[in-house]
Amino acid sequence: MPQPRYKRVVLKISGEALAGDDKTGINAEVLSKITDSIIKVYEMGVEIAIVVGGGNFWRGRSGKGMDRTTADHMGMLATVINALALQDSLESKGVPTRVQTAIEMKQIAEPYIRRKAVRHLEKQRIVIFACGTGNPFFSTDTAAALRAAEIDAEVILLAKNVDGAYDSDPHINPEARKFDKLSHFEVLSKRLGVMDSTAASLCMDNNIPIILFGLDEPENIVKVITGEDIGTIIK
Ligand code: GTP
Repeated sequence: MPQPRYKRVVLKISGEALAGDDKTGINAEVLSKITDSIIKVYEMGVEIAIVVGGGNFWRGRSGKGMDRTTADHMGMLATVINALALQDSLESKGVPTRVQTAIEMKQIAEPYIRRKAVRHLEKQRIVIFACGTGNPFFSTDTAAALRAAEIDAEVILLAKNVDGAYDSDPHINPEARKFDKLSHFEVLSKRLGVMDSTAASLCMDNNIPIILFGLDEPENIVKVITGEDIGTIIK
C-alpha cells in the first residue's frame, strides 16, 4: 500500500465539486466517489479535517443588491447542507465523523471547539467544519487556512474545479499556463485568482503549504496524499 506523506491534513472541498456536471446541488454519484477517495486516505491512517464550501447552493457574492453580510450568512448555511451530506455519505460507509459549525446550531451539529476537534482527529474521526470562519467577508478558503493553523495541520489540500494554479483563467483562456510550484508571495503578488488573498497571506504567515488540484477526478485526493506531483504546490 502506498505510504501517506502527511499525518494530519485539512481538505478543502468546494461546493461546486459536489455538484459535478449538474453545476448546482449535490450529485449523489459524485459525492459517493469523493467520499470513497477520502476513505482510502483515512484508511492509510491520515487524520482528515474537511472544510467544505457552499457554492453549489449559494455564494455570498451572488447576492447582487443584497446586504453582503446577509448574503454571506446564506452562504454559511449552504456549507452546512454540504457538511451533512458528506457526513451522511462517510458514515453510511462506516467511517465515524463529527460535524462542527462555526455558528452554533446545536440541534444539528457540534459547535466548533478546537480542542474537541483535535481529540476527534486523534480518535480517528473525520471532522467536517461548516459555516466557514463564522464571519461574513471571509471565504471558506480562509476558513481552511484558519482551521489548518489552529489544528496544526501539515498541509491544506485545496480541491478545486481547476487542476492547478494558472496565470489566467483556463476556462476562459486556452493559452493559460499552469504553475507547478509557487510561493505564497507569488500567489499574492501575481494576484492569482486560485484562492483569495486573505487565505494566501494567512498560510504564508503560518508557513502552511497548500496543494491545489482538481477534484474532477476524485482519486486525485489519494494521489496528492501519496506524494504524486499533480496540481500546484504553494509553499
Ligand atoms: P469523545 O467524548 O471524545 O469520545 O467524543 P464524542 O463526540 O463521542 O462525545 P460527545 O458525547 O461529545 O458526542 C456524542 C455525539 O453527540 C456525537 O455524535 C457528537 O457529534 C454529538 N454532539 C456533541 N455535542 C453536540 C452538540 O452540541 N450538538 C449536536 N447536535 N450534537 C452534538
